[in-house]
Amino acid sequence: NGFWVVIPAAGVGSRMRADRPKQYLPLAGRALIEHTLACFLSHPGLRGLVVSLAADDPYWSTLPCASDERIARAVGGRERADSVLEGLLRLEALGADEADWVLVHDAARPNLQRADLDGLLEQLSGDPVGGLLAVPAKDTLKRAGADGRVAETVDRSVIWLAYTPQMFRLGLLRDALRQALAAGVTVTDEASAMEWAGHAPRLVEGRADNIKVTRPEDLHWLEQRWPGGRE
Ligand code: CTP
Ligand code: MG
Repeated sequence: NGFWVVIPAAGVGSRMRADRPKQYLPLAGRALIEHTLACFLSHPGLRGLVVSLAADDPYWSTLPCASDERIARAVGGRERADSVLEGLLRLEALGADEADWVLVHDAARPNLQRADLDGLLEQLSGDPVGGLLAVPAKDTLKRAGADGRVAETVDRSVIWLAYTPQMFRLGLLRDALRQALAAGVTVTDEASAMEWAGHAPRLVEGRADNIKVTRPEDLHWLEQRWPGGRE
């Protein structure tokens, strides 16, 4: 019953080219990560939450939420997957069990709406493995050939964009991440580690506006549309 959360927030945000990691940039008067956390902290099913921070992070301690007792901290690692694994181990130390649900959600994805979170929890509640929020591709897709010409048009109906939260049984995810990292496999989200370990994560359709802030135009896009439905 209930769920745990890991927020990987140990990235440097190189593509954002800002003066600080993007999770600490302002959006509507608060740091981006505070919007990200709000959707989880206001949910009655939350059992515990860990943020994975860079070892030398000077920004977190200046935020109001740094004193929130429901938030634990882990030290993140070199890759996102390392940061997530550290967060999972921290949750286990807080009492999370193998079969418990853990939701992993990017710190840089501040526009998660409650309806999407509830939809994910509800649709996966009886699942043995878990799954992720995802959005169906809407543009026509081309596979590029070596010469920069179109090699073929890809069947769009089977292509989805992977979003977060990604929700899995804690023990399965911990083992999959650990083994994938040890094998040197490229792991860009939790689902890819689970797939590599032989599981088949379920796709749960979510809102397209739950975007990850990656480049400056993403933050501008959110600023123009804020407040989101949540606040
Ligand atoms: N992340 C992390 N630990 C890392 C790398 C990334 O916790 N070693 C987190 C980021 O803080 C972010 C999320 O994972 O919340 C998604 O990653 P990404 O968008 O790639 O963020 P950055 O790695 O910070 O950005 P960039 O790749 O442009 O440097
Ligand atoms: Mg990155």
